[in-house]
Amino acid sequence: MTNIAILGFGVVGSGVAKLITDNKNEVTKLGGDDINIKYVLDLRDFPDSPFADRVIHDYSAIVNDPDVSVVIEVMGGSHPAYEYTVAALKAGKSVITSNKEVVANFGDEFLALAKENGVCYRFEAAVGGGIPVISPMISCIGQNKITEVRGILNGTTNYILTQMFTYGQSFDSALRDAQKKGYAESNPDADILGTDACRKTAILTALISGKLLPTSKIHTEGITKIRDNDVSAASKMGATIKLVGRGISKDGELFAMVAPFIVSGGMPLSGVSGVYNAVEVIADPLGNVMFYGQGAGAGATASAVVGDLMQVMTSGTNCSAPVFKKCEDMLSFDEFSSKHYLALCKGCYGKVIEKIQNCTVIENGDEYAVITPVISEGELASILDELDITPKSHIRIL
Ligand code: HSE
Repeated sequence: MTNIAILGFGVVGSGVAKLITDNKNEVTKLGGDDINIKYVLDLRDFPDSPFADRVIHDYSAIVNDPDVSVVIEVMGGSHPAYEYTVAALKAGKSVITSNKEVVANFGDEFLALAKENGVCYRFEAAVGGGIPVISPMISCIGQNKITEVRGILNGTTNYILTQMFTYGQSFDSALRDAQKKGYAESNPDADILGTDACRKTAILTALISGKLLPTSKIHTEGITKIRDNDVSAASKMGATIKLVGRGISKDGELFAMVAPFIVSGGMPLSGVSGVYNAVEVIADPLGNVMFYGQGAGAGATASAVVGDLMQVMTSGTNCSAPVFKKCEDMLSFDEFSSKHYLALCKGCYGKVIEKIQNCTVIENGDEYAVITPVISEGELASILDELDITPKSHIRIL
């Protein structure tokens, strides 16, 4: 019998309990043992839940119970998730989480502590919801040289953008729908401002480089500034707009960012719609590979958490785990180069295309969409500064 404790009984925690119960035969067969949800820790009581009798409010009962071998932390937030994780690992319990904030902030420390104590720390559900991406990146493609990992990492924003592009739905009403469906963070600012995608980008970048960048150093833009005109300009280009997190590890340089990107219709990421997420890995000699699936929601996230539980139950102390080291040494945002879309008024687009050679111009209602060749952020900013022009929109092109 494997006794587990679930910390947090919200969307994910209750989804985990439901999956373990509903799929008892499958999980017992794969995990090789019966699973007993011995405790559910939450501030609230759940009198109507089938797990009402396991609900406790005092973490020390869990950490001091030698029968509990696995703690599933699905509370979200950094604290007390950090303190609870440290205490569990030091007590010789494996920890599984879906909490990207705590992994992005302290993953290096937890992985080292797990190793020291001969237990596992796993976080498949922290990136891409239900998509198996972290384990395959470690176990199946880690032998490649990975130069870039990029993805649509937030289901809420992808849902909103899809509704705006495909159905002309307003931003606010699409956000409300995403919240109702249980995709959004408790504070949806973390979704729409790109913070959630930034945490996941930090984790993916650490997986390809071993270096955990502070999220505060990762240039992050959300989707709140995307206008109807940008949607029509992208459509005219045969493209769409996606919130993309990118981690690049090339020629000894490391770089990460999160921002809306114009993604041409021919690229695999352009077809990722609704709450679906995708992570594309560029690897040598493998080439491009893309992981795709539901990035949020109770069932999908529970699937990844319980997948980790299966691994912990069958691997014992022999978990295949990455090593993360905190690192602040990365290419500056000014040095990052890409093509850019600039939405410019009729009076100013001429000055820009005179200054930047080989731009493409698309007429878009009462403004012009100027597509630049590849140019660095710093160089473009200084040209716009010199011309004293602030574009109505500025979106990078993937
Ligand atoms: N709020 C997140 C999303 C949940 O929308 O993707 C999964 O991390």
